[in-house]
Amino acid sequence: MKNLLNVLRSDEVDTGLIQVIETIINASKEIAFRVRQGALAGVLGSTQDENVQGETQKQLDVISNQLLKDLLLACPQIASLASEEEDTVVAANPGGKYVVAFDPLDGSSNIDINGQIGTIFSIYRALDSIPHDSELQFNQQGSQQACAGYVLYGPSTLLAITTGAAVTAKKVTRCFTLDATQGTFLLTADNIKIAKETQEFAINMSNSRFWNEDMRCYIDDLILGETGPRQKRYNMRWNAAMVGDVHRVLTRGGIFLYPSDNRNAKQPAKLRLLYEANPMALLIENAGGKSWSEQQRTLDIQPKQLHERVAVILGSANEVDECLGYLHAHS
Ligand code: AHG
Ligand code: MN
Ligand code: MN
Repeated sequence: MKNLLNVLRSDEVDTGLIQVIETIINASKEIAFRVRQGALAGVLGSTQDENVQGETQKQLDVISNQLLKDLLLACPQIASLASEEEDTVVAANPGGKYVVAFDPLDGSSNIDINGQIGTIFSIYRALDSIPHDSELQFNQQGSQQACAGYVLYGPSTLLAITTGAAVTAKKVTRCFTLDATQGTFLLTADNIKIAKETQEFAINMSNSRFWNEDMRCYIDDLILGETGPRQKRYNMRWNAAMVGDVHRVLTRGGIFLYPSDNRNAKQPAKLRLLYEANPMALLIENAGGKSWSEQQRTLDIQPKQLHERVAVILGSANEVDECLGYLHAHS
């Protein structure tokens, strides 16, 4: 079986970017070890602190962030970092050629219940025209990503990874499984292609009263099944961890939605553009799926702020189009 390094080399990914990817992977192996040890490693439960977004930080959020930060800051290829758990940009090396945005631990509410959790990352080339530690380094559209991926800490530890147009014309999303006996990620799914059609959707239904009317109408029609306008029966899944839901979509198709809602006037959507929506969008598009933020393709959004939030609708291409048809009918 090919390992990650062989695959990146045969794709002719430049050595600087390979170093960045390997650094993230090394941190993720440290996180995976602690996740497996669970209560024995003392990593469960909450801290007394909140992050800049007002969310209570779990111990594992903080530990994962620190592990990633420590290793990435020591990597000379990195100019600066942005993390869900850091208020502002973290300066790294002035000569660094890449910047990295990451969600150190996605699915925090699953930590204490031994559920699926993961690390999501997005890598861009550093812009020469801007100071290496400026927030503006991260104001790049998702379509400019050099590489994106996630590590899913489930029953096995999996890496889903793809490289972007900034690096290669090849559009390939692959999965690697961590061989814990060797500490190596081995290629277990090459050139993943998401089925265009699906009968499975993922959405947090408890928010339905906060959605707009068109979104409610789309979901109502899915629920009506073969007796409704869609004329087929749908099943629902919700992992409460985007990494788990997106991994299911990559594996067997489906549509994942976290739409905008009016729960909180200051926060029209939940998921973060830089380290949740964009990396997942690149993985999904390179696997033949679609990712939109209601009115716009996710990868075309011009970021304005480090922690900005966007609606996310992604997965099987034809189902995403169906959903957008409902939303755009009245816009
Ligand atoms: P995080 O744990 O990094 O804050 O992200 C959680 C996100 C995402 O992973 C998931 O899809 C969503 O929040 C779950 O939200 P609900 O709790 O509203 O279901
Ligand atoms: Mn997250
Ligand atoms: Mn997180």
